[in-house]
Amino acid sequence: MIIYSRNRRLRTNAAIRALVQETVLTTNDFVMPIFVMEGQNRQEPIASMPGIFRRTVDLTVKECQELFSLGVKAVNLYMKVSEDLKDNTGKESWNDNGLMQTTIKAIKDAVPGMVIMPDVALDPYSMYGHDGIITKGKVDNDATNEALTKMSVSLAKAGADVIAPSDMMDGRVAVIRTGLEENGFTDVAILSYAAKYASSFYGPFRSALDSAPKENEDIPKDKKTYQMDFHNSREAIDEVLKDVDEGADIIMIKPGMPYLDIVAKVRQTIDLPIAVFNVSGEYAMLKAAAQNGWLDNDKAIIESLTCIKRAGADMIFTYAAKEAAILLNQ
Ligand code: PBG
Repeated sequence: MIIYSRNRRLRTNAAIRALVQETVLTTNDFVMPIFVMEGQNRQEPIASMPGIFRRTVDLTVKECQELFSLGVKAVNLYMKVSEDLKDNTGKESWNDNGLMQTTIKAIKDAVPGMVIMPDVALDPYSMYGHDGIITKGKVDNDATNEALTKMSVSLAKAGADVIAPSDMMDGRVAVIRTGLEENGFTDVAILSYAAKYASSFYGPFRSALDSAPKENEDIPKDKKTYQMDFHNSREAIDEVLKDVDEGADIIMIKPGMPYLDIVAKVRQTIDLPIAVFNVSGEYAMLKAAAQNGWLDNDKAIIESLTCIKRAGADMIFTYAAKEAAILLNQ
């Protein structure tokens, strides 16, 4: 039987497969999300995220040194804020001596080459667990934008390289950009969570920071008035184009794996770098299956991250960054 075209010819051995490989995953693709808490020389495991810890600033710095030497050269920072510092204004977020600011300075000092990307949103600082200020029972878009700008300027002052607003307020990229420019932070980039969906896959993250919306009849019970509806995809393009127009430097799609259709579509629409967040729930699912012996942990990690890149990601925020770096360096 003559079959002129046989795809198997280019799969006959590892070297030939490597020659025709379209997507190559490297440690340069990773951004490691990191949870920080007050105190000294302590770390606490996060139950729903095996292998992930909340650490005090000193241990966070050590972790950053280790990550950097493994080739992971970007970190995304999240703070566990004590309850007594939370209120409805989020003012602790722009305290120049706050935990986030202290952490940024400490990492910059010890690992100057590390790209530091603090999260910008009010939820860890909000007594209500919302990403914005509550006015008359609603998340107040424009008041929140002002708070996010103060937070961004304070983080830039501390040494942040990239401001990463994850709050999904309308118009905040332009407002934050203006604030950064007016304060002389012309080189601080904005990575905007442009298409962030209201997703059940954020559960483990919210328990890590105690940042879930609080049970309270007077406030919205979920984040659906600002995060996107997962039934929609054209709307993602609209969100992305608006953030590009407002001056975003990098565009984020979130979550990752169940949303790769969105990533592919956005990839075809814009030429700016795209970041994809392989979120806490995706990590938890993989770990749970691996711990049960139902999935090969290492292979599943490399495959899922490669597929996220194949869909169009230029960088991937992933809790598996360190593990994947160790695997890729072998
Ligand atoms: C909050 C924020 C969330 C995540 C990153 N920033 C949670 C949320 O929107 O409720 C989720 C990250 C993850 O699940 O890994 N602004």
